[in-house]
Amino acid sequence: MTDPADVTAPVACRVCGGDVTEFLDLGRQPLSDRFLEPDRTEGEFFYRLAVGQCAACRMVQLTEEVPRDLMFHEEYPYHSSGSSVMREHFAGLAQRLLDTELTGPDPFVVEIGCNDGIMLKAVQDAGVRHLGFEPSSGVAKVAQAKGVRVRTDFFEEATASEVRAAEGTADVIYAANTMCHIPYLDSVFKGVDALLSPDGVFVFEDPYLGDVVAKTSFDQIYDEHFFVFSAGSVQAAAERFGFELVDVDRLPVHGGEVRYWLARRGARTPSEAVARLLAEEAAQQLGELATLRAFAANVTAIRDDLKALLTRLRAEGRTVVGYGATAKSATVTNFCGIGPDLVQFVCDTTPDKQNRLTPGMHIPVRPPTAFSESYPDYALLFAWNHAEEIMAKEQEFQQAGGRWILYVPEVHVV
Ligand code: SAH
Ligand code: TYD
Ligand code: ZN
Repeated sequence: MTDPADVTAPVACRVCGGDVTEFLDLGRQPLSDRFLEPDRTEGEFFYRLAVGQCAACRMVQLTEEVPRDLMFHEEYPYHSSGSSVMREHFAGLAQRLLDTELTGPDPFVVEIGCNDGIMLKAVQDAGVRHLGFEPSSGVAKVAQAKGVRVRTDFFEEATASEVRAAEGTADVIYAANTMCHIPYLDSVFKGVDALLSPDGVFVFEDPYLGDVVAKTSFDQIYDEHFFVFSAGSVQAAAERFGFELVDVDRLPVHGGEVRYWLARRGARTPSEAVARLLAEEAAQQLGELATLRAFAANVTAIRDDLKALLTRLRAEGRTVVGYGATAKSATVTNFCGIGPDLVQFVCDTTPDKQNRLTPGMHIPVRPPTAFSESYPDYALLFAWNHAEEIMAKEQEFQQAGGRWILYVPEVHVV
């Protein structure tokens, strides 16, 4: 039998131009953060979500690119500050940057994708010069209302060069959960090259391929997440653009991330942690296509198990609701074919998502009160990356006999 992935013509790598070999097809998918008004579902945008690996630089990436203006605009609904764990995470990172990197005279930090100001607010409070780039004007305004300086724009070579000309070099350029959103990595690196001071650091953190594979967290793959980084692929990209990977931190947030510290080539001595993580990736064969094909087989197993469980619960007359209308859940519901017949509604704290329909499968989104006013038998935890925080605050649900359904690293009920 021919593997369909083998007959798909390779596309060109967005980093190095090499051949990208597809290893997972997640099918027809909508914009993951486009929640629809109930009476306006016609004309929804769909694309084919498939992921491959570059044979040359090993970068894992989508094979089809969704235009950025369809994703990041005035109504972009994701607000970073919705999680207390994430608020603490970014406050801690801001303090670390203030203590270690922003200590000279008149330091300057630029953030790419500052969203509602979750990180830069602490920098502003410390009175340190900063600028956030945030193209989604709705969330940018929320940051501005906190006193954070925001340029409502995409960070790329041209916009970064303008900032360099007007405000001088930056000591730190930082991005969280944003670099993986940017297919035009070359333009971003040229922008960093133009803006970063000679001994500055470029720091970014994103979902880690090692965790995605280990946990089969295939829902980290959706339109906005164009790349899934590893230390190996980031090091190759950094070298290509004149930078060097000088440190890495494993992070527990969002199901497992890595924070990459890049400096200009030769400017800083790489830490032991870089060599250790690269060795770990080699031992796990993370760069091998066979590993990624095995991951794809695990994804199919999760889809079948989850669909079977939900179908059985429906037949038994059990009620199931979703918890957290995450962007990730668009991949799960659309790939598995989970609609309102299997999951009655999804509850979410984000006002801009409430009383709308989830992308593609059109499950109603309700405020958290819809959950607590009448607990369902089961809650499918789409926001599994916030499991600790959510389960702690929803203890009454479990005390009332409710049970959580998780699908990472495999389908299970707790
Ligand atoms: N840093 C926040 C937000 C992550 S969501 C956090 O970790 O929670 C990704 C954000 O990147 C969105 O707010 C989106 O509007 C923004 N974004 C997308 N492309 C960008 C670009 N080229 N430059 C700056 N921000 C961008
Ligand atoms: P998140 O998993 O952070 O990201 P993504 O959308 O990129 O997959 O999204 C968390 C979602 O879950 C967000 O819409 C807010 C919601 N949420 C709750 O409803 N209750 C909670 O307690 C938390 C932490 C999040
Ligand atoms: Zn490549």
